[in-house]
Amino acid sequence: MKVMDRIRATTVGKSIFRVPDRVTERDRAAGHWASFLLHIYPVKVRRKEITFRYTWFLGVASLVLFGSLVVSGIYLMFFYVPSPASAYGDIQTIQTQVAFGQYIRNIHRWSAHLMVLAVAAHMARVFYRGAYKAPKEFNWVIGVVLLVLTLLLSFTGYLLPWDQLAYWAVTVGTSMAGYVPLFGEQVRDILLGGPTVGSATLLRFYVLHVAVLPTLLVVVVTVHLWRWRKDAMLTADSEVEDA
Ligand code: HEM
Repeated sequence: MKVMDRIRATTVGKSIFRVPDRVTERDRAAGHWASFLLHIYPVKVRRKEITFRYTWFLGVASLVLFGSLVVSGIYLMFFYVPSPASAYGDIQTIQTQVAFGQYIRNIHRWSAHLMVLAVAAHMARVFYRGAYKAPKEFNWVIGVVLLVLTLLLSFTGYLLPWDQLAYWAVTVGTSMAGYVPLFGEQVRDILLGGPTVGSATLLRFYVLHVAVLPTLLVVVVTVHLWRWRKDAMLTADSEVEDA
């Protein structure tokens, strides 16, 4: 008898784990239904659907890169104030005086570039394999939202160094947004917070970059992963074999 089974068999164990002994497949399935943490998982997943050959782990790579961006981004937040008076100087200080500043900033930048690549490659892999077809079509739509959020994170982060490149790139980008039919001008005005790129724009981009967009991304990724695990159970064997 394994150690965990022994613990489960005690009175204390029984009070904590309200799960039947996992002897038969039915018991294992019942365990999933009864457990709060496991309820997001399907009772069964086809082994092939979680292999490297099937996914190239590109979705996982996107997730790991996002984790790296969150950790390095939090470190950078300690040394950066989103105001035209200080932003440019803060970045110089991070590069030259802050402990591990240049290293962490480079991790942040490279992770951002690689995340855009990984997400695009993940999308291409899903498309090539036909994994967007029923019953996964809703997860494809969620994926498109994730792609947009990833690109918006890159775009909003681009302004923060407050150098010439950032200033003019965002001037061009927000002007392009202004040409969107029907509500383009409103979107541009909301982003800029004034007639041109200025202190209000920097603050807005900062809040979008460090709070609004990452929070949205975490929420949407959670739904994405939940759907992936649930849908993985519904795919026909033949579709997985062909992939
Ligand atoms: C922040 C961006 C994204 C993250 C973190 C992410 C994460 C993941 C992960 C971890 C998986 C599990 C399988 C794998 O590793 O490939 C997955 C599956 C999937 N993703 Fe994404 N994804 C993202 C963006 C996208 C985009 C842009 C699309 C397409 C428009 C997409 C469509 C799908 C679909 C349809 C599946 C299910 C594939 C299957 O079941 O075989 N995802 N995603």
